[in-house]
Amino acid sequence: MLLVLLIVFLLPSGCPGLPFYNGFYYGNIMNDRSYRDGLGEGFFNGVKLVVKTPEDPLFTYRGANVTLPCHYYYEPPLTSSRPVRIKWWKLQENGTPEQDVLVAIGLRHRSFGEYHGRAHLLQEKEQDASLVILDLRLQDYGRYRCEVIDGLEDESGVVELELRGVVFPYQPPHGRYQLNFHEAQLACEEQDAVVASFEQLFQAWEEGLDWCNAGWLLDGTVQYPITLPRQPCGGHSLAPGIRSYGERHKRLHHYDVFCFSSSVKGRVYYLEHLEKMTMAEAENACLEDGAHIAKVGQLFVAWKFYDLDRCDAGWLADGSVRYPVTRPRPNCGSPIPGVRSFGFPDKESRKYGVYCYLQS
Ligand SMILES: *[C@@H]1O[C@H](CO)[C@@H](O)[C@H](O)[C@H]1NC(C)=O
Repeated sequence: MLLVLLIVFLLPSGCPGLPFYNGFYYGNIMNDRSYRDGLGEGFFNGVKLVVKTPEDPLFTYRGANVTLPCHYYYEPPLTSSRPVRIKWWKLQENGTPEQDVLVAIGLRHRSFGEYHGRAHLLQEKEQDASLVILDLRLQDYGRYRCEVIDGLEDESGVVELELRGVVFPYQPPHGRYQLNFHEAQLACEEQDAVVASFEQLFQAWEEGLDWCNAGWLLDGTVQYPITLPRQPCGGHSLAPGIRSYGERHKRLHHYDVFCFSSSVKGRVYYLEHLEKMTMAEAENACLEDGAHIAKVGQLFVAWKFYDLDRCDAGWLADGSVRYPVTRPRPNCGSPIPGVRSFGFPDKESRKYGVYCYLQS
């Protein structure tokens, strides 16, 4: 006990930056005048640095330019401006390491990694630390910390960036529950998408997504959304909701995946073509039309955001056959809007048309 006390007591004086101390020791430390005078208040002669960021998440879409607002001030206000350092980074979601985005001192700044050349400070007014990110990518989704450093004083705020998009369950051609986490990431990328986060799946569930196969999420958990409780999907006794298998082994366990995609810079269309085609003929037909055969993510985005509604089944790049319905009608599948799937038919069968994607 004495040893523990000693360690805890020694730690704070060695590292004045420690954010908090718990319970009992807290009181002792705060009563120690010599310690208190060396920190925070003393440095600034009673001036407090305050950093403000919006409380609500920012909603935007892939390809947009976005400003993450962040500004700071002093209490009471200072008469002259002081040099500060500004640092932005993206917070860690389970599994993904936190990322440096940008560091700025005065007018000089450096952006890092994925953000290199895409991020800068807005610098429209004094005491503004807002960050501009150009040409948003699906991976940019997440929480960002804005940190203002003035001498040894250091305050920060968080901005949450969300993308408008669509979540879709994905199963590869070789069938159900075949993907470990890493394969799931590749599978989504191949459909012009990323693995969905829990928040994205939750929002899709609120909008009615119901899927009875478990799929990977970005945080390494495996879950599935149920709006209509029924026997094979956890039974009648459980309330509607998102059922979770919890965290699974990213290499050893195999499931389906929930992918997320946002708007596309281009157009998805059903190719008007005289005959039905094999998969290979379908790919060629899109090329001849100056386009490419569409990916699953692109078809879902067109269905959700561009109101693509077509009762003709068409090939897609992964070898699946689907069609998008926004206004359900007789002879056009189920009475609920959605992207219908015929699975992965024989590639030689000549029963289907094709959906093409033309980049703009
Ligand atoms: C984003 O900003 C860049 C450079 O300022 C501009 O060229 C581009 O058109 C903008 N994109 C959008 C979607 O506004």
